[in-house]
Amino acid sequence: MFYITTAIDYTNGAPHIGHAYEKVLADVLARYRRLRGDDVQFLTGVDQHGQKVQQTAERLGIDPAEFVRGITTKFTDLWSTLGISHDGWAETTDPRHKACVQAILQALKDQGQLYKKTHRGHYSVRQEQFLTDRDRDASGAFGAEWGEVVEIEEENWYFKLSEHTDWLRGYLKQSADAVLPVFRKSELLNALDRNPGTDLCISRPKDRLHWGIEIPFDTGFVTYVWFDALINYVSFAGFRAQPDAGLPDFSKLWTADERPVHVIGKDILVPAHGIYWLCMLHALGFGDAVMPRLIVHGWWNIRGEKMSKSLGNIIDPDELAARFGTAALRYYLVRDIVTGKDADFDAERLVMLYNTELANELGNLCNRALNMSRRYTGGVVSRGGPFDDADLALQSSLFDSTAAYKSAMDQFDVAAALEAFGSHVHHCNVYAERMKPWELAKDSANQERLATVLQHLVESLAHAAVLLGPVLPEASSMIAEQLALPQLTGLQLPDLHWGLVAEGHQVGSPSPIFPKILTPEA
Ligand code: ME8
Ligand code: MG
Repeated sequence: MFYITTAIDYTNGAPHIGHAYEKVLADVLARYRRLRGDDVQFLTGVDQHGQKVQQTAERLGIDPAEFVRGITTKFTDLWSTLGISHDGWAETTDPRHKACVQAILQALKDQGQLYKKTHRGHYSVRQEQFLTDRDRDASGAFGAEWGEVVEIEEENWYFKLSEHTDWLRGYLKQSADAVLPVFRKSELLNALDRNPGTDLCISRPKDRLHWGIEIPFDTGFVTYVWFDALINYVSFAGFRAQPDAGLPDFSKLWTADERPVHVIGKDILVPAHGIYWLCMLHALGFGDAVMPRLIVHGWWNIRGEKMSKSLGNIIDPDELAARFGTAALRYYLVRDIVTGKDADFDAERLVMLYNTELANELGNLCNRALNMSRRYTGGVVSRGGPFDDADLALQSSLFDSTAAYKSAMDQFDVAAALEAFGSHVHHCNVYAERMKPWELAKDSANQERLATVLQHLVESLAHAAVLLGPVLPEASSMIAEQLALPQLTGLQLPDLHWGLVAEGHQVGSPSPIFPKILTPEA
């Protein structure tokens, strides 16, 4: 089973392009694994508790439960617009999640992993955490990234994180795929070396924060939002769930033969996922062989700057989808960023990549393969005469680009997979230019040769329809329909072979799949 999750998004504001990217990236990987023939469980959702939500709701004068319901709908609507194919949906106000968080707290308490103490210190309201001197900048102040910082004294519950950090260091060093890309693992190890283990404060007194999950053995407190949120990965996977809870069977999802994959952004690797979560799992008895793999993606910036409310440069994915279409947006988000790296969001590049790689290359291949087949062979596909060097080169280009596509997808590198995909499509268009079916058609002596050339284009297009599926599922079905091979969308990678289009098959007629985007700028 391939169990893949994303971060759960904060419901203190509307979704932005960073949220959309992460969900599309995970969706492409989940769809790719289904295409590989794997059983897939894809979980995404929303993070609904915490001080930020409580404060925003208070400011608006509404109940936090009502507030998060409204924002949650914005996320679910966007995921349906973008065609996100999640199997599970995580909302942290779900009673099944609450029960799991409380069961975990109780178990850790019973094992002696939790204790209560009084702490006086600086607290960042924005980041919802106590700060230490290490969080001060060069001038000794707490920088703007912490927002409002207040000094408070508080009694709270702590998790003995420091008992697990030696284990964590050893685990990270010996596991090749604990954190991908590997340079992120170095960042995590450096952070561990800088920060000799302090324990983690996992509660907040109710008089300060009531919008959270109650600590089951000390009801004056609620659970710290990160401790609550991280548990979604197991609670919605059925961990310690009632058999009739409508959740998956945990033992099938969380296995050593295909360790779970968490897709997260670079800002929440240290300390949340890379330290807290792995140590929480270790404390719960999870061994190295079932530690989740962390796939850490980079950041979408705007002209080199961070997106932020204060800069007013937040990009709204709904607006982009309405203006350019879902296919253009999905394609751009996974095509123009290398998994792990940062990228600059640029609507002109979105239009340019769509127009060149989809409209001009793939759209053109589709259009000419089907149009010429209909015009010159009555739409009937036939292998014609013997294959020449150009035909064999086209066949091996398809073979090589499919292998490169698979290997890139297996390494979670969607941009490289699309690059490989595009190289074969381009090869097909060059082949068509060189073989000139329109010239061959002028002399009936070339009929066999003409059939062979067109068969190579149609066969390539059938493969392209299948391989495009994870990224652009609707366009993939449209190509399959126009080929009159709707069954292509049900194929899996092991089914691919030269000869998807049977001798004598009759193709349908083309209509534009990727109409060019005309912008005032272009
Ligand atoms: O961090 N570019 O929620 P969140 C790319 N609730 N990715 C971005 C991004 C950007 N500009 N901005 C945000 C949280 N992200 C917690 C997670 S998980 C148990 C709890 C990514 O709404 C970010 O890195 O701030 C994270 O992976 C996801 O969007 C949700 O961010
Ligand atoms: Mg964030």
